[in-house]
Amino acid sequence: MRAVLCHAWGDIDDLRLEEAPSPALPEGSDGWVRIRVHASGVNFADTLLIRGEYQEKPPFPFSPGMEVAGIVAEVSPGVEGIREGERVLAMLEAGGGYAEEAIARASDVTPIPDAMDWAVAASFPVVYATSHLALSHRARLQPGEVLLVHGASGGVGLTAVEVGKALGATVIATASSPEKLAVAHAHGADHLVNYATEDIRERVLEIAGGVDVVYDPVGGEAFAASLRSINPGGRILVIGFASGSIPQIPANHLLVKDAAVLGLSLGQLRNHRPEVVQQAMRELLAWHAEGRLRPLVSQVLPLEDYAEALRLLRDRRSTGKVVLRVHE
Ligand SMILES: NC(=O)c1ccc[n+]([C@@H]2O[C@H](COP(=O)([O-])OP(=O)(O)OC[C@H]3O[C@@H](n4cnc5c(N)ncnc54)[C@H](OP(=O)(O)O)[C@@H]3O)[C@@H](O)[C@H]2O)c1
Repeated sequence: MRAVLCHAWGDIDDLRLEEAPSPALPEGSDGWVRIRVHASGVNFADTLLIRGEYQEKPPFPFSPGMEVAGIVAEVSPGVEGIREGERVLAMLEAGGGYAEEAIARASDVTPIPDAMDWAVAASFPVVYATSHLALSHRARLQPGEVLLVHGASGGVGLTAVEVGKALGATVIATASSPEKLAVAHAHGADHLVNYATEDIRERVLEIAGGVDVVYDPVGGEAFAASLRSINPGGRILVIGFASGSIPQIPANHLLVKDAAVLGLSLGQLRNHRPEVVQQAMRELLAWHAEGRLRPLVSQVLPLEDYAEALRLLRDRRSTGKVVLRVHE
């Protein structure tokens, strides 16, 4: 099969598209699935993984790519509810997705309806599961609460806008340009803040007087402003650090604000509470079938253009999701 491979920690230009052996199901272990990949979702974390800056460090050589959609080619013993030949989406164990075949734990594989396009299915699991689990399971977002979403036109950010609206919140979206804010608005954001030109706290106070829940995949200045904008009893969700700056949290601010900072790791939840993640995926696919979620795949590139796909995210040029087309 063809696969994009990382042979040593480095940058996008160090990756190579090569012939590689198909991944085998782990010997002696139950519960795995091999998938013929039709499309592979691109995540910001892929840019960190290849540099050795992600929490997971797979052995070399490995392929980046944390989510795929395709057809089940093989199932190991003990797998129930997933059949060979079935259309599925899957989250992968730290990589393996920029390839013609990938393996996934059965608990991370979900059948998809015939009507769901490959690119949409490949773009779906990581971002929607992260936002749904963060907002519902972790922050317990309530109808009528005010939700502030940073980086709201990006992969996870845009899904947080949609899931926040589906849960009945008023959503304030931040992004770095009018074009990106227009994307967040088109996906349901009620209020828009350009954090490249406007002061987040000032605008939040003007719009809503404060926020109840913050969804933060950006970190740095955005996190600091969130802490100054949070209502008593508020919750700040730490999702990621796309800005490259990991905030340090003054505990006294949490005390006086009666506020909580909550981490959410989709990877940890998949390991420790797979049933919670599966329930979230079922609910999200039902919402999608009802038309309540409108995934934005802004670009679909052929597998050979993996470097451009990664650069779009690294250089802050993408909105929604970028997807690689692997098999037609
Ligand atoms: N906790 C979890 O389980 C989990 C799951 C998925 C993703 N994540 C994390 O969430 C973050 C976003 O991931 P993603 O896949 O959604 O990425 P993405 O599609 O590239 O979106 C990131 C957004 O961050 C903003 N940003 C601010 N400063 C940036 C910078 N210096 N470089 C790039 N973007 C910057 C950009 O919007 P503006 O230009 O509008 O600022 C961009 O839209 C990453 O840190 C990722 O690791 C965490």
